[in-house]
Amino acid sequence: MFKAIILIGGPLKGTRFRPLSLEIPKPLFPVAGFPMIYHHIAACCQVKGLKEIILIGFYQPNDALNKFIISAQQEFKIQIRYLQEYTALGTAGGIYHFRDQILTGNPQCFFVLNSDVCGDFPLQDMLDSHKKNPDGSIGTVLATEATRQQSLTFGCIVEDQNTHEVLHYAEKPETFVSTLINCGIYLFSPLIFQTLEKAFKSNLEENYNFDFNIPSKEVIRLEQDVLIPLAGDGKLFVHQTKRFWSQLKSAGAAIYANRHYLAIYQRTGSKQLAKNGENKPQIIGDVFIHPTAQVHPSAVLGPNVTIGRHVVVGEGVRLRESIVLEGATLQDHCCILYSIVGWHSTIGVWSRVEGTPNDPNPNKPFAKLEIPSMFTTDGKLNPSITVIGSDVQVPSEVIILNSIVLPHKDLAGCYKNQIIL
Ligand code: GDD
Ligand code: GTP
Repeated sequence: MFKAIILIGGPLKGTRFRPLSLEIPKPLFPVAGFPMIYHHIAACCQVKGLKEIILIGFYQPNDALNKFIISAQQEFKIQIRYLQEYTALGTAGGIYHFRDQILTGNPQCFFVLNSDVCGDFPLQDMLDSHKKNPDGSIGTVLATEATRQQSLTFGCIVEDQNTHEVLHYAEKPETFVSTLINCGIYLFSPLIFQTLEKAFKSNLEENYNFDFNIPSKEVIRLEQDVLIPLAGDGKLFVHQTKRFWSQLKSAGAAIYANRHYLAIYQRTGSKQLAKNGENKPQIIGDVFIHPTAQVHPSAVLGPNVTIGRHVVVGEGVRLRESIVLEGATLQDHCCILYSIVGWHSTIGVWSRVEGTPNDPNPNKPFAKLEIPSMFTTDGKLNPSITVIGSDVQVPSEVIILNSIVLPHKDLAGCYKNQIIL
């Protein structure tokens, strides 16, 4: 029997996802029509013998999270639970803290998935390759290739090319170590708890004083406190993937992830994608339209567009590479490119909302999505996708270019490269 843990973090994190993460926890932000972690759960449910999924984070339980869990349990017919850390315990602190619950039912091994990555996760393949590791092996890390320069922003792995053993691990190194990077997806045997206990005890001893400024003594960092000590010990192995994988840390990344998840729907023949037909809008490439949305037949959508629940799309609207969230209204003839339109916002007639993609450089093999710094030296926003927060009114006949609009704004004119507070 197997289990999976999804690390969903908490409210302090996800600052680069604002203003969208102001409304709902970042892991619930919808990509390709479903919350980010819905895709993780769907991937876990493909693994034969996987019986339970545990979400660990430090969000207060809230309506959105509870509703999501109930509906995912019903849809996937699997037990899903949320375990809340009393404070941020780091990427492994929660796993150690809730060890009894994780070990209930004696799982042979369990997956750990960061919530802020997206991809075509080869979990069954990881399990198969994990089973071939020598006895006593503790874990398998999913890894992928990045460019030399980009590798410095990830966990870097040096492997034995023949046995795929992890020989050396460095977390976000200052100088080049390896182009093989940690995808934030792991498979561990219960033996990991011995390593976690060691890390826990040594942290306790190191921090044994009465300084209340020190964060929780229970904090364990999976990367520094577990992977680094295990490397070179014959206990940690790599499973390399060439399939789609990306971090999902910014709104720009959501547009990129949206495109790839839609392509996966296309490949798996899923019924989620819209089709062309009589009295239907024109569909170009991969487009997801929620069944409750009303789209005028003269609208042209795609490629890579997701239309959420109860969205209204008027006559002659053009949409491309964008996500439109629940309850938004796109009035006649507006044009939305490389943008996210927030919940219940309205875009006026003939207005144009446009952003700039931050896609990986297609000429650089293995390039990953860049998350550029938000501002230029003169304080302007760096061109990026346009994000319209929730309940925003964009008037008729204006242009909003490369901007971020905070929620509840009633805009009066055109904006370019600005954050509209
Ligand atoms: N429950 C819980 N508690 N989750 C946490 C906590 C915590 O205290 N801190 C972080 N997380 C979750 C985040 O929500 C995220 O899903 C995941 O753990 C990774 O956390 P980050 O701290 O943001 O790490 P990172 O994304 O910069 O780097 C990690 O992921 C990269 C791949 O995306 C590392 O594992 C890198 O080595 C790796 O390359
Ligand atoms: P993610 O994409 O989720 O990583 O968020 P981000 O990259 O936009 O946020 P960043 O890493 O810059 O951190 C945002 C805030 O969270 C900062 O104030 C950090 O000090 C804090 N923070 C980062 N990691 C942790 C953690 O593990 N625990 C806690 N409590 N705070 C953290």
